[in-house]
Amino acid sequence: MKTYPRPEPGDQPTLRYPPYTSTVRRAPTRPPILLPHTLSELTGPVFGHGPIGEADSDLTRQHAGDPIGERIIVAGRVVDEDGRPIPHTLIELWQANAADRYAHAMDDHPAPLDPNFTGAGRTITDAEGHYRFVTIKPGAYPWRNHDNAWRPAHIHFSLFGPCFITRLVTQMYFPNDPLMPFDPVSQSIPNERARRRLISSFDLSLTEPEWALGYRFDFVLRGRDATPFEGQP
Ligand SMILES: [Fe+2]
Repeated sequence: MKTYPRPEPGDQPTLRYPPYTSTVRRAPTRPPILLPHTLSELTGPVFGHGPIGEADSDLTRQHAGDPIGERIIVAGRVVDEDGRPIPHTLIELWQANAADRYAHAMDDHPAPLDPNFTGAGRTITDAEGHYRFVTIKPGAYPWRNHDNAWRPAHIHFSLFGPCFITRLVTQMYFPNDPLMPFDPVSQSIPNERARRRLISSFDLSLTEPEWALGYRFDFVLRGRDATPFEGQP
């Protein structure tokens, strides 16, 4: 018999988690209000203004030279709760450079910018739900959440479904990162089993000889094995 694999309580981030200080200001303090969807929410916009080019998914080829750092491949699939592929889904990523700095006006901590690395990319899943990025392994960066606070190395991802209100946002981490237990962002997910879903796995079959290590990271949109996504009620 086909059943819907209901998610466990505690598999998604806690909206108000005081150790992650900015959640205290942005978490809702009142019960949510159900707003009826209108045509504009249900139909778009989806893919922005420009077509997706090849360099959009290869963050090492977006400038004249090679970026500094460890080149990596990040690939996987987008699937539903039964493992069925989700094709033609826009995946965007953004991340810090190898020296742990974002090319962003709000990041002014003393680490170098890389003129050959912007840290933003996008791609679309194929018919089997596969996606693939080439990028640089990001560094661990300091933040001002608490004393001596450092984020584990991570890559931010956004997935667009068929319309704007189906956008999902999450972060991917790397195996064996010693900073994970000290990171209130990932620790805001109560269940350890769910937290582990945000850690990519090293994959020799994705690794290309004498060129780049491969990390696998799948997105499961809902159900018992759903990926933790930010801002989910
Ligand atoms: Fe970040």
